[in-house]
Amino acid sequence: MEKNPEGGLIWLGGHIAVDVMSIEDVEIHEKMKGNPMNFQGKDILSAENMTQEEILEILRQSAEMENLCKTRPVSDLLADKVVALLFLEPSTRTRLSFETAVKRLGAKAITVSDAKTSSTAKGETLADTARTVEGYVDCIVVRQPMIGGAKVMADAVKIPVINGGDGAGQHPTQALLDLYTIQKERGTLEGLKLAMVGDLKFGRTVHSLTYALAPFKPKEYIFCSPAALEMPEHIVADMVEKGVPCKIAASMDEALQADVIYMTRIQKERFTDAAEYEKLKGSFILNRRLVEKGKKDITVMHPLPRVDEITVDVDDLPSAAYFRQAHNGVFVRMALLALVMGRA
Ligand code: NCD
Repeated sequence: MEKNPEGGLIWLGGHIAVDVMSIEDVEIHEKMKGNPMNFQGKDILSAENMTQEEILEILRQSAEMENLCKTRPVSDLLADKVVALLFLEPSTRTRLSFETAVKRLGAKAITVSDAKTSSTAKGETLADTARTVEGYVDCIVVRQPMIGGAKVMADAVKIPVINGGDGAGQHPTQALLDLYTIQKERGTLEGLKLAMVGDLKFGRTVHSLTYALAPFKPKEYIFCSPAALEMPEHIVADMVEKGVPCKIAASMDEALQADVIYMTRIQKERFTDAAEYEKLKGSFILNRRLVEKGKKDITVMHPLPRVDEITVDVDDLPSAAYFRQAHNGVFVRMALLALVMGRA
């Protein structure tokens, strides 16, 4: 995948399936050439270089999908498309919300939901898997454990590849649904104070969210984690370069004064030393008393699954947005599928 010197869409990759385009598709492609808002054929691999314009367009399409679902819960927008959902790491929300999105758009899904049952377990490379699956489907959604693995697959094929989580790397579709949720809960994405709490080292959701919100000029990021699980230095350095004020906090007191507090679980599966995980688990626990002591209209988010980071007595507070957040995933993923397959 070549870098686009004109900026903008590098993060999406750039695979236009020129050799399989119909005359009509070629006309659309010609018309949209140079238009940064043309997502057709593009990959969604990382939140790192997303522009504000691209993000707002995706969120606008997500809102349209939410509206569409109210009147037509199942449409035929992608009725002629087949999508591969390759989940080579555990997943509930991402896989099921993608599968729901596929079905609500009238498309079909083929699914691998257990790494042990796919040929990667036999030693097949990600590139070979991608090349094979490209012959079956119109779009690939993949979750697998290697940082950069989704890009390896995207580089091997012409159809769009969507990263559903690459190890401790990125999780761009989660970041987009997080932004969609923030926009709905707070009425704006601009100038917010966002606190991220928990495993900031291995948590791919916070890596992506840090980048995705950056174009909206956050007032401040507060990174609150055990010392051993701090936000990677290169990400903090990128934020400093973008002019986002960042603060590292050892306790949750300051995080509770933010507009949004984004809790995350300690990523047990990324630890090589089980004893180290045992030492760090339960480091930060948000309960009802703490939420009530915090900023009056604070929004509590979590990508889920939770282990013990948020006690269940928080769930029925108006601040608790995490189940609404999970539901929003369907609309955002519908929008992304429609966009990359040229039907939004
Ligand atoms: C997250 C993930 O897989 O990174 N889950 C999700 O996609 N909603 C968060 C996590 O597993 O902790």
